[in-house]
Amino acid sequence: MRRARCTPSNPTELTTLRTTVGSALRSTLGKERTRAIRKRERRFRRKLARKIAPPKAAKVLPPEEPQVEILAPGLQVAEIPPESAAPPWQPSDPSAVFVSPRMSRHQLLGELHQLLAPRTYLEIGVNDGASLTLSGSTLIAIDPKFAISHPLSCDLALVQATSDEFFAGDDPCAHFEGVPIDLAFIDGMHLSEFALRDFMNTERYMSPAGVVVLDDMLPRNSLEASRDRLTLDWTGDVYKMVAALQDTRPDLVVIPVNTAPTGTLVVLGLDPASKTLSGSYEELLSGFLSADPQSVPAGLLQRTVAVSAEDLLNVPLWACFGRSTVQRRSHERLSPLSTRCPAKPWSGRRARPACVGFDVIIRFAEKEPS
Ligand SMILES: C[S@@+](CC[C@H](N)C(=O)[O-])C[C@H]1O[C@@H](n2cnc3c(N)ncnc32)[C@H](O)[C@@H]1O
Repeated sequence: MRRARCTPSNPTELTTLRTTVGSALRSTLGKERTRAIRKRERRFRRKLARKIAPPKAAKVLPPEEPQVEILAPGLQVAEIPPESAAPPWQPSDPSAVFVSPRMSRHQLLGELHQLLAPRTYLEIGVNDGASLTLSGSTLIAIDPKFAISHPLSCDLALVQATSDEFFAGDDPCAHFEGVPIDLAFIDGMHLSEFALRDFMNTERYMSPAGVVVLDDMLPRNSLEASRDRLTLDWTGDVYKMVAALQDTRPDLVVIPVNTAPTGTLVVLGLDPASKTLSGSYEELLSGFLSADPQSVPAGLLQRTVAVSAEDLLNVPLWACFGRSTVQRRSHERLSPLSTRCPAKPWSGRRARPACVGFDVIIRFAEKEPS
């Protein structure tokens, strides 16, 4: 037998070879024994084929459309399991030294809900829904991968999408039926360009008397603030929003707050018509996209530019914000607040010996018809 016939290169050659061998066997071994041998040979071939077959390619599904769900009050959302494979985080660096905060970001947010009694609350970044439980308002909550494990009983539109997809939609805040946002919590993707877009987009729908809270503004070390996530506790570089807002929008009141674990930023004096940030977007981005390691300003790491949450909550300015402004609109009722503000030293970036929010109170007072 020629070697070439023993290594057939195509199926026809293989069949011919088998037929030739089969007839030779039949004439020497007989019909029955040849059939048994061929049966065993077929079984062996099938087994071998299964062993050497390449693994099946995973089925590629088309990308899902962002899904918007409006849930009825009282409905509890089924838990979505978190990602199965935990990334291998490395240990974080030692924390900078700062005054230990007495309040957490959720405690601050809970107090703001109490003080402002917001008609509407928007949250970007939901995760397990812990921060949603603090609200009794009409809510919109956005997260592409929420995994809610807290019972919720509220008037909630839960949007499974990224915040960019949400704001690109037609009438994204339709669930609020024309009522502007009184309180917003921005806690989505921890990269500065995302936080900037989240703020810009949110402000367009805010009440001028609304309050925006941004999370993770005071990283505890530079590793925690890296753009490329390496540690379990991760703020990313959203801290860059503090300087960006203070420098680009002097009309805003931008207050870093020393909350556990990674600080918050409270922003007041919102202007839904402002185009300043969108006009400076590219310029801001060029500063934002610096490579790791990040150099976090010492004032943020050591929290010397931050006020304590208790001090901020005790400043008697909150009656000018949130739902209360809907009822309180007269110059007469607002102006006394400016004199009641304590002359507390302001340790912020734009150092000024005035109380937090002083300018905003005056601005609202002046805007009101007499
Ligand atoms: C820190 S968790 C939110 C925690 C929650 N706010 C709380 O305080 O309980 C951040 C969430 O942001 C979500 N997220 C990531 N990228 C996002 C994006 N582009 N838009 C909206 N949410 C995003 C993540 O899926 C994650 O659940």
